[in-house]
Amino acid sequence: MAVPLFDTSTPLAPLRGEIDAAIARVLDSGKFILGPEVAAFEREFAHYCGARHAVGVANGTDALTIALRALDVGPGDEVIVPSFTFYASAEAIPPTGARPVFCDVDPETFCVTAETVRAALTPRTKAVIAVHLFGNVAPVADIAALGVPVVEDAAQSAGSTTPAGRPGSLGSLATFSFFPSKNLACFGDGGAITTQDGELADRVRMLRFHGSWDKITYEHVGYNSRLDELQAAILRVQLPHLDRWADGRRAAADHYAAAGMGDLVALPRPVDGVAPAWHLYVVRSERADALAEALAAAGHGQKAYYRTPVHLQPAMRAFAPDGTLPGTDEAARTHLAVPMSPVLSAAQAADVVAAARQALVAS
Ligand SMILES: Cc1ncc(COP(=O)(O)O)c(C=O)c1O
Repeated sequence: MAVPLFDTSTPLAPLRGEIDAAIARVLDSGKFILGPEVAAFEREFAHYCGARHAVGVANGTDALTIALRALDVGPGDEVIVPSFTFYASAEAIPPTGARPVFCDVDPETFCVTAETVRAALTPRTKAVIAVHLFGNVAPVADIAALGVPVVEDAAQSAGSTTPAGRPGSLGSLATFSFFPSKNLACFGDGGAITTQDGELADRVRMLRFHGSWDKITYEHVGYNSRLDELQAAILRVQLPHLDRWADGRRAAADHYAAAGMGDLVALPRPVDGVAPAWHLYVVRSERADALAEALAAAGHGQKAYYRTPVHLQPAMRAFAPDGTLPGTDEAARTHLAVPMSPVLSAAQAADVVAAARQALVAS
C-alpha cells in the first residue's frame, strides 16, 4: 500500500462536527479579531504547555521576530540559531536589526547542544533560538546555563514532553506555528508565543497589536500579527486531542523500529529524557537519494527537507559563518523524512521498511 508522507485528514475526520460548530459559533458572534475564542485558546494553550502566558499571533515566523523584540534584540546584537532548520528560524532575526550567527547541530538529534551554542557565543550574543526540530526538544536548561536568554522555536514540537516540562515552558519565551501540517494545526496561518514572565508577555501582547494597548497611544513600532477568532476556535477543538495524536506519532516510530528500520538507516535519537511527538520522522543514510527514489517508486511519501542548510541559502550570504558546521553538513547530506502521522499503522510502517530494505540491502 502507498503510504503518504503525512496524513492530516484522518485524525481530523471524527472532529468535523465539532469544528463546524466552532466555526458557526464564531460567525454567529460577529467577532473575528481578539475576541473570546483567542482569549480562551490562550488560556488553554498556556495551561497545556505549563506556561503562565500564551499570546496568539499570526504565524510562527512573526512569533519569533516578536519574541526577539520582546527581549530587546535590535541592531548591533547577535542571535545564535542553528543552520539545520526551516529557513524561517533564521529569517525572523534580521527584521529585528540583529545578525543571525549560525551554530551547528548534533546530527543524531538534529538539535543544537550547549557545546554547539557555546562555540558561537560572542560578547554581542543577545539571545539563542533553540529549535526543537522534527519534534525533538533541544536541551534548553543546558543552553540557558551559558547565560543567554533562550527562545524555543517549538514550531515542530507541540505534544513533545521532557522531564523538565513541555516545550513552551522551558525557555525565556517559546514560539509555535499552527501551519496546517503541524502537530497542532489550524486551517490557515497561526502561531503563538508562550512565556512564564508577565512582563515579557505584556510586551508581546503590545507588539502584536501595533505596539499599543488601546489603538490610541502607540508606544512601540510593532506589528499587526494576531491569531484570528476562527483559527482559535478550530484550535480549541483540537487541543484536547494533541496528546493522543502525539502518542500515535510515538507508536509510529515504534512500528518503524519493530519492522527493522534501524538495521537499514540511522534512526533519529531523542534528546536525553525527551519523548518526542515526531512531527517528521527523519532518518539518515549515506544513500539517502537512492532510498528516496526507491520509496517514491513504491508510492511512499519521502522528502529531504533541508538539503541546503540555511547558512548556504542565497539570502543568508551576508551572515555566512567563518568556520564549518560539520554536524549540519552531515545532517543536510544524509537526512530523509519518511511517512509519519498520528495514525500510521504497523502494516504501513512495515511496507515502508520493506521498500527501504529492497533499496538498501537487495541492490
Ligand atoms: C522550525 C520552524 N520554525 C518556524 C516556522 C515558521 O512558522 P510559520 O510557517 O507559521 O511562519 C516553521 C514552520 O513553518 C518551522 O518549522
